[in-house]
Amino acid sequence: MDEDVPVITIDGPAAAGKGTVARLVAGQLGFRLLDSGFLYRRAALATIAGGADSGNADDVVAAIAAIDWDAGCDEQRLRSEAVGAAASQLAALAPVRRELVAVQRRFRTAPGLVADGRDMGTVIFPDAFLKIFMVADLAERARRRLRQYPGLGMDECLAALRERDEADRGRPVAPLRPAEDAVQLDSTGLDAQSVAERIVDLCRQADPGRFKVE
Ligand code: DC
Repeated sequence: MDEDVPVITIDGPAAAGKGTVARLVAGQLGFRLLDSGFLYRRAALATIAGGADSGNADDVVAAIAAIDWDAGCDEQRLRSEAVGAAASQLAALAPVRRELVAVQRRFRTAPGLVADGRDMGTVIFPDAFLKIFMVADLAERARRRLRQYPGLGMDECLAALRERDEADRGRPVAPLRPAEDAVQLDSTGLDAQSVAERIVDLCRQADPGRFKVE
């Protein structure tokens, strides 16, 4: 791990807007982007495609070993709530998380990294320069999810998000929780651009030399 390379972590519950905001912040700073949920979702797709069980650590670790990370995959399916739920299930297994630690840390390259997920600030990059914990009202998160991926009903979507958050928060390994030194941001009622600007401002306040105002 190159500890001189600054990392900004954005953790939080499902559909809080982390992905969009992380992309905007990375774009503004010229940093690399790690969507760690993608890795867990890709592992879930591979497990399901092989007819294996997302609750069985050996099966999932074998499915991960066979993934060709450079190959494309069905994005629509990857982003579905069903694959999100399977990702959440296999993400609770310690051997599966161990398998993905090095993969995630390899994203840390100059000039910097913006990483979004559940345990970016607590486990994967505990020495991050800035840690954000992003939240939003459940109803707003469901509305955003439905706008991006129509197909579920509102009630189903609310129930699926609630269930996934509970599973991610309640698991013993790398549970979803704010790091002690995280800044909490509530994105309810805000657009992604304003949240991203707030994060870039926090970077400038923390290190005006490195993050110059243009
Ligand atoms: O962010 P997402 O909805 O794409 O993530 C899908 C699931 O993957 C999420 O419910 C839990 C798991 N996950 C995780 O455990 N740790 C991460 N850093 C990212 C995702």
